[in-house]
Amino acid sequence: MSKRIVVVGSINLDLVAATPRIPIAGETVAGLSFRTFPGGKGANQAVAAARVGGAVSMVGKLGADAFGVQLRESLEESNVNTEAVEVVPGSSGVALITTDPKGQNAITVVAGANAQLSPADIDANIDLIRSAGILLTQLEIPLATVDYLAAIAAQERIPLILDPAPARFLPPSLLKSVDWLTPNETETCILLGRGPQELSENLTQDAANALLDCGSRNVILKLGDRGCYVALADGTRQLLPAYAVKAVDTTAAGDAFNGAFAVALMNGLEPLESASWAAAVAAISVTRPGAQASMPTASEVARFLEDSHCSKSTRV
Ligand code: RIB
Repeated sequence: MSKRIVVVGSINLDLVAATPRIPIAGETVAGLSFRTFPGGKGANQAVAAARVGGAVSMVGKLGADAFGVQLRESLEESNVNTEAVEVVPGSSGVALITTDPKGQNAITVVAGANAQLSPADIDANIDLIRSAGILLTQLEIPLATVDYLAAIAAQERIPLILDPAPARFLPPSLLKSVDWLTPNETETCILLGRGPQELSENLTQDAANALLDCGSRNVILKLGDRGCYVALADGTRQLLPAYAVKAVDTTAAGDAFNGAFAVALMNGLEPLESASWAAAVAAISVTRPGAQASMPTASEVARFLEDSHCSKSTRV
């Protein structure tokens, strides 16, 4: 039996307002609609991986509220094992999300129960974590917990995929334990202590190399509608162009990528093939509203790839 993918991360309820445009500071805009969706970077990655066929367990925390009940149900409906998801007093994590008609978003996260996921919880689930084929984590849980998990991953030689979101400075000791670092453009600039900028082709390569120098074994820069830039320990450097789709909501596209990438690696695909397949999963996710709700199944991905090969022009 193949090993499980274990996701140690956040679980949020997303409160999503669709607006004509994302307001600037001090501005009020009239919203077009409001919906709630199960989200949270950790839970989204778990659902993304499970929907495309991964055997997935989630380690996380929920609040003792109605949101928590809904969030667990959403994970279980997608076949994510939630035995290591504990309910704690207080509220579940929430994310206030504003989207615009181009599918762009702005997100404010209130950690709630996610802030209580501690190194002791890693110890409490150590057998599950040690048995993982791949570990995924993000930065919506305490950094001490991510750091502790990374040390265990390194010690046990379990590949660790770190999505450095929301971005913050990360200690080199942590980055040295990371096999796959997967920032988007903004996160890349923050990790490198650079001001926000669009990464031109030269800057992309330069940024990926700088992140490799910080310690992570491999880096994948997620560049939105420009695709992703893969920089591997063996010297491979390649830009994989994005699939051209009409985006309605880009929320959790990065999570779709990470969950799918883990499954592809577990299935024995090479890193470039894995990134390309994960990019297809992310492309489908942006054509649908919501975070977990937008994750495709393996057969939907197969159909999408077949259609895009037929139309040839789909990949830009
Ligand atoms: O990556 C998207 C996610 O970020 C949303 O689902 C929201 O919960 C925030 O965590």
